[in-house]
Parts: sequence; structure tokens; C-alpha cells
Amino acid sequence: MSKVLARYDALVSAGELRPDPAQRAVAARLQECATALEAAPRRGSILWRALRKQPEPVRGLYLYGGVGRGKSMLMDLFFGCVEIPAKRRVHFHEFMQEVHERLRVERSREVADPVMPVADAIAEEARLLAFDEMIITNSADAMIVSRLFTRIMSHGVTVVATSNRAPDQLYLNGLNREHFLPFIALLQERLDVVPLDGPTDYRLARLAGFPTWYVPNGKAATDALSRAFFRLTDFPVEDRANVPAEDIAVPGGRTLHVPKSLKGVAVFSYARLCREPRGVPDYLAIARRYHTVIIVGVPRFDADRRNEAARFKLLIDTLYEHGVKLLAAADAEPENLYEGGDDAFEFERTVSRLMEMRSADYLAKGHGTT
Ligand SMILES: Nc1ncnc2c1ncn2[C@@H]1O[C@H](COP(=O)(O)OP(=O)(O)OP(=O)(O)O)[C@@H](O)[C@H]1O
Ligand SMILES: [Mg+2]
Repeated sequence: MSKVLARYDALVSAGELRPDPAQRAVAARLQECATALEAAPRRGSILWRALRKQPEPVRGLYLYGGVGRGKSMLMDLFFGCVEIPAKRRVHFHEFMQEVHERLRVERSREVADPVMPVADAIAEEARLLAFDEMIITNSADAMIVSRLFTRIMSHGVTVVATSNRAPDQLYLNGLNREHFLPFIALLQERLDVVPLDGPTDYRLARLAGFPTWYVPNGKAATDALSRAFFRLTDFPVEDRANVPAEDIAVPGGRTLHVPKSLKGVAVFSYARLCREPRGVPDYLAIARRYHTVIIVGVPRFDADRRNEAARFKLLIDTLYEHGVKLLAAADAEPENLYEGGDDAFEFERTVSRLMEMRSADYLAKGHGTT
């Protein structure tokens, strides 16, 4: 039997989590969900075939609230506990990218309604789908999610999701929102919609006392950033050799190697982001995928580094526009970074954004909001 609640309590007892009754209530609800999933016989099993019907699908959960409230933490705890083989946890944005890719393949086969086979294939692969950071920002997604998820759920798949927005706040003021409204109704009807919006932004609390901009580059700075990384991700420092890396897809068919990628936090060297021929698609992929980015090795920008400075500007603009938190080690404070001469004024907005990104207000903002 799974032990969501027991694990939550153990983390509190160990001092790794502060006791939070609202979180504990969610853990209890997730425990129910886990128990039901484990008890449910497989769809299509002999038992159900004999009864000539499908089991009642296990009711999922839609967990929403402000940043740093512990939604992803609880979902991960739950996901790690559920003892069923066919489970999948995925960042919602990545999932939708995959859906569009699968749709492209189906369309090339000239299927009448490509959404159906794609939904069927997804449902075939998992009985539990856990989505982190559900957010709808474009009409291509908005147009299909209702049919896609109605079909996926019709196969008895359980959906658990975290989001910064209540269902009826999703895709607010979006284009053709009327086509999206059935998706809201679906979420409200088929999932328990649970707010988790206590007073504490635990991520901010974890960052409290940690400066976000370290000068100069060097061991002291990298050590401090490394401590911040382990604090933000709850990864055991003793296990530092095993921090996962990841290759994320960049539109256009490329990939970007992320040397440390964990729980929405990525670590990069400045060289990888701005010395290589990277551009807005790479930066967008990062900004959508990670709520916090740590960059080491930001240099001063002299006249020889105009191209790099231009990329760095694009990178900061993109992170800023997506509310991504930035921690960095650099050779200078933001206002002294640019030594390029005449066109320093072009860098002024970057400086101003970098300053703002260090502020408590910015750090308390949600990922993906502008
Ligand atoms: N009760 C708690 N005590 C201490 N730390 C906590 C507690 N709950 C969550 N945290 C930590 O706070 C950080 C933020 O939590 P989490 O990532 O789950 O927030 P979130 O609600 O998913 O935020 P977002 O909306 O930005 O994705 C994590 O490092 C998490 O481990
Ligand atoms: Mg989260």
C-alpha cells in the first residue's frame, strides 16, 4: 500500500518540511487516490471482461495555487509512492509539444480526426498521468485539449495536475476561448479541484538569505550556487555526483543539453548559453521548462564580446518575460557588466531587468506570468 501521508509526516518529522495543515490535507487526498489506483484491477483484465464493463475511473486531482506552495512537491511525493507500473509524470508544456508532434504524424497518414488516435495511444501507455504546471498559452493547445482529454479520460486514465491557476482562470482572454470552455468543464467535473494557497511561498523562504547574484566568478560563488541548487531541489548533497542531466527539445529539431536538471531548476555554464550559436528558440525552451535557472561564468562584456552580449540580452529578456528566477555567478555587478563602449545604452534594459530579477517582488512572482 502506498504511503503518501506517512512520507509527508516523515519529512516533517525529519525537519525537511515545515508542518502545513493544508498540505497535509492534500497529502491525505492524494493517498486516497494512490490507494484506489493500486486497488483497481487493470482495465481489460479478466475480471472486468467477465463483468463486461470497465471499472469506474479513479478520480484525479487538480491542485492549484500561488508559487512555492508545495504543489509540485506533493505531486512528486504522490507519484513516487503510487505502486502501479503504467504511470507517467510530465511537464505539461513538454507533453503538449509531444502531442503536436504525434498529431503531425497522424495527419500525414490522413486520418479523419487525428486527435483520437493520439489520445488512444497516450491512454494505452499510462493509467496515471501527472502533469506539472498546467498552463494554456496558445490557441493551438486550447483548440484540442478538450477533445484530447475527454478521450484520454474516457479510457479510465486518472489525471493529476498542478497549476498556478484555477481551471476557470486558464487561457483567460485567449483567442477563441469558447472552444476551450469544455476543457474547463471537464476538469471541474472529472477532477477534484483543490486550492493550495497558504500564506507561505516556501521556495522564496528557501531562497531567503541567499543572494541571487554572486561576484566574482570563482570557487566561493560556485559553492554558494551549488548550495542554493541543492536547497531548491531537496537533492541530497552527498549524492551530488548523480544529479540528473537532461536534453530538452528546441523547436527546429535541435536539442539543448542541460547538465543539471531537477525539479524545474537548471544549471548552465554561461559559455553553453551564449558562446555557442544559440538563439530565442533555445532560450524559450529553457524559460518554459524551468522556473529557476542558475548560470555560472557570466563575464564582463567588452568590445570583443558584442555577439555574446547580444545573446545574453535575448536570454535575459526571455527569462524575464517568463518570470524565471535567475541565480548567477558573474565577474561584475549588473551595472558594471557592459564595457562595450558607445552602445552601452542598449544594454541598459538588461541591467535594469537583472536588478529587478533580484527583487523580492520578482522572486515571489509565478513562473510563466509576465
Ligand atoms: N512545508 C514545507 N516546508 C519546507 N519547504 C517546503 C514545504 N513545502 C514545499 N517546500 C519546498 O518549497 C519549494 C517550492 O515547492 P514546490 O516546488 O512544490 O512549489 P509549487 O507550489 O509547485 O510552486 P510553483 O507554482 O512555482 O510550481 C520546494 O523546494 C519544496 O520542497
Ligand atoms: Mg510547481
